[in-house]
Amino acid sequence: MKVGVIGFGGMGLGHAIEVSKLGFVREVVGCDTNEEARERGEAKGLRAVDDLKKLLAEKPDAVLVVTSPATHAAIIRQCLEAGVPVLTEKPLSTDVKEGRELVALAAKKNLHFQVGFELPYCGSMVGMKDIIDRGLIGKPTLMSLVQISGSRLRGIVKAVNGGTFYEKLCHEIDLFRYFFGEPERVMAVSAPIVMGHYDCPDNVLSCLKFPGGEQGNITFLTSRAAHIGGTDDHGDRGHYYELIMTGTQGSVSYDAWTGTLEVMRYNHRPDHKTELIESINVKQWYGKGEYNIADQDRDFLESVRNRRPLRFPASNAQISMEWVQRAERSLAEGGRWVGKEE
Ligand SMILES: NC(=O)c1ccc[n+]([C@@H]2O[C@H](COP(=O)([O-])OP(=O)(O)OC[C@H]3O[C@@H](n4cnc5c(N)ncnc54)[C@H](O)[C@@H]3O)[C@@H](O)[C@H]2O)c1
Repeated sequence: MKVGVIGFGGMGLGHAIEVSKLGFVREVVGCDTNEEARERGEAKGLRAVDDLKKLLAEKPDAVLVVTSPATHAAIIRQCLEAGVPVLTEKPLSTDVKEGRELVALAAKKNLHFQVGFELPYCGSMVGMKDIIDRGLIGKPTLMSLVQISGSRLRGIVKAVNGGTFYEKLCHEIDLFRYFFGEPERVMAVSAPIVMGHYDCPDNVLSCLKFPGGEQGNITFLTSRAAHIGGTDDHGDRGHYYELIMTGTQGSVSYDAWTGTLEVMRYNHRPDHKTELIESINVKQWYGKGEYNIADQDRDFLESVRNRRPLRFPASNAQISMEWVQRAERSLAEGGRWVGKEE
């Protein structure tokens, strides 16, 4: 296959390097309007053109869109119009209406179209799903996640990438839907003190409720990044997850610091002791714990190559984006619960 990678920033180069490793990929061609970005690619042996038209003229078999979010929609449209399958980094677009149009366009053209919600490919989530499927925690009822985002949240503003909701919350909403199915309602509130500290307009706590009573909570706890401290490896550098899934018979937590899944079982005997029944090294048993774009990209490209349906089509990601928009509406309206009909 010949694969185009549009956007040679931090993520784009990462995708290009992973895709180049695939045996069935004969060539990777980058595209970036920025000369320095193209040079960074060239330093790693990756050729890049400066204009999307030039890339499309080379007739790639598929493209990955890895530019900043506000540019996604126009680029995706151009690629789909040219008949090229697309995997776009999240968010699908910073405008849900545009997202709907792009999903419809891909369907009309019968083209593979996927969004880079890579969490279900990550070892931490593959492991968590396995633990649930093995019945170790009973019926899952609550998924709660703290995303520790440091000062990198600066610059996450509506005009560039849709703000925290479109840039970050989309991942978690998609993840909650992966585990619990379709939500019933969502609410979101923000923490003004944290916002002031990091000059970030929409730091957020959001909560989703599901028809079976399940709940998904996500907190962006920027202040915790400051408490953890510094700008070194474990401090302020980016995004860390503290994640727990609670079920009727126990819980499983993911510790991103050690890459471990810990399974606790509630003990209903009279001593009421909760037991640690498994402590699982994610990397050893389930592969890469976080940011597993390698497996995601391979899965997408193999689906295109073998003409098989996608596991995670953009039509599904679009439903997550609709919930992102409802969360944003909830925040604007003071944390009101917003239902699926709105
Ligand atoms: N999956 C994840 O967990 C994850 C993590 C980080 C970022 N992302 C996503 O990856 C994407 C890129 O993020 P990044 O941090 O690499 O951004 P970045 O700003 O570092 O890089 C974007 C690159 O795109 C180029 N670009 C912009 N407009 C272009 C155009 N019209 N044509 C060609 N090139 C263009 C820019 O010059 C830049 O080099 C975003 O959508 C972001 O949300 C995903």
